[in-house]
Amino acid sequence: MTDPHTLPPLSFAPLEGITGWIFRQVHHAMFPGLSRYYTPFFAPTADSPLTGRGLRDMHPDHNRGVPVVPQLLTNRAEDFIASARLLQDLGYKEVNLNLGCPSGTVVAKKKGAGFLSQPQALARFLDQIFQTLDVNISIKTRIGVENLEEWPPLLDLFQRYPICELIIHPRLRRDFYRGQPRREAFTYAVAHSRLPLCYNGDLFSPQDCWDLARQFPSVDRLMAGRGLVCNPALGRQLQGGPPLTKAELQAFHDRLLDGYQSVLSGDWPVLGKMKELWSYWARLFPAPEKPLKAMRKAKTLTDYTFAAQSLFRDQDLLPGAHFPSAGASS
Ligand SMILES: Cc1cc2nc3c(=O)[nH]c(=O)nc-3n(C[C@H](O)[C@H](O)[C@H](O)COP(=O)(O)O)c2cc1C
Repeated sequence: MTDPHTLPPLSFAPLEGITGWIFRQVHHAMFPGLSRYYTPFFAPTADSPLTGRGLRDMHPDHNRGVPVVPQLLTNRAEDFIASARLLQDLGYKEVNLNLGCPSGTVVAKKKGAGFLSQPQALARFLDQIFQTLDVNISIKTRIGVENLEEWPPLLDLFQRYPICELIIHPRLRRDFYRGQPRREAFTYAVAHSRLPLCYNGDLFSPQDCWDLARQFPSVDRLMAGRGLVCNPALGRQLQGGPPLTKAELQAFHDRLLDGYQSVLSGDWPVLGKMKELWSYWARLFPAPEKPLKAMRKAKTLTDYTFAAQSLFRDQDLLPGAHFPSAGASS
């Protein structure tokens, strides 16, 4: 096992619908020590370089004291540039480009992972944004759309730019989140790239992170998403700290519930947020089915809170439980 103290701090992957500003604030307050939190993507357009949900999520007042990197999803350089300039004016030193989103509607527009299928257009886009902007630009990418042969030329393309961090989720778009990450593609990047590399994909437990660090000793940046939602203390454990306790999870839950109630109107959207979180947390308990069913059926926050409290009251955390490995994952 690699010495926990030699492991770099984790960064929190962007998770649309989950890791918005309330979540990031509460997580950072209770489980400090992560290197960065990447925002879920905002998709700028010519008319709205930064508006609505994106502006709320990235507003400095909502991110004070939290190391946040805003993420943009677009294939139009002008829109990226306009949005990145606004973010720079708001005080951000780095902006991240999403080249990984596998969703059908995004890919059909040749954005996210879909942009990887257009290497010439991608090169023009990167030429333009790197020539124009003086903000740090990082990229979060998949390794191609359909097959592994796309990866070496894509990596060659990335090498031509001063990307401050290349975050690699080594799956193809067609993999979505299925199967094991294709570690051989990350091995290839480590051997062939001079860019600062960050590994992302299926780091669910401390052991997963230690194994990854042992396999790639030169890589000092790791990013986790689903594993950190399920076990918000994962980063602390990697630094040699104690595992999550039930009292902490309950306090995390309560603070998120309060936070969502303070910004969302009506019970329904708050219930949506909390129910999604339970799709991760349920696996931390030995027999969550009955209270979970009651939470899912709850139409009011009163009913929801009653069910959640009964789960916390009646059951202890399973020691060492974490988000499932690929194949078994939901
Ligand atoms: C619900 C959900 C929402 C996501 N939203 C984003 C997003 O907004 N931007 C992005 O780059 N990746 C997004 N991702 C991908 C994650 O950031 C990450 O790359 C992926 O989950 C693999 O990492 P993990 O195994 O540590 O979760 C999302 C993934 C999930 C499951």
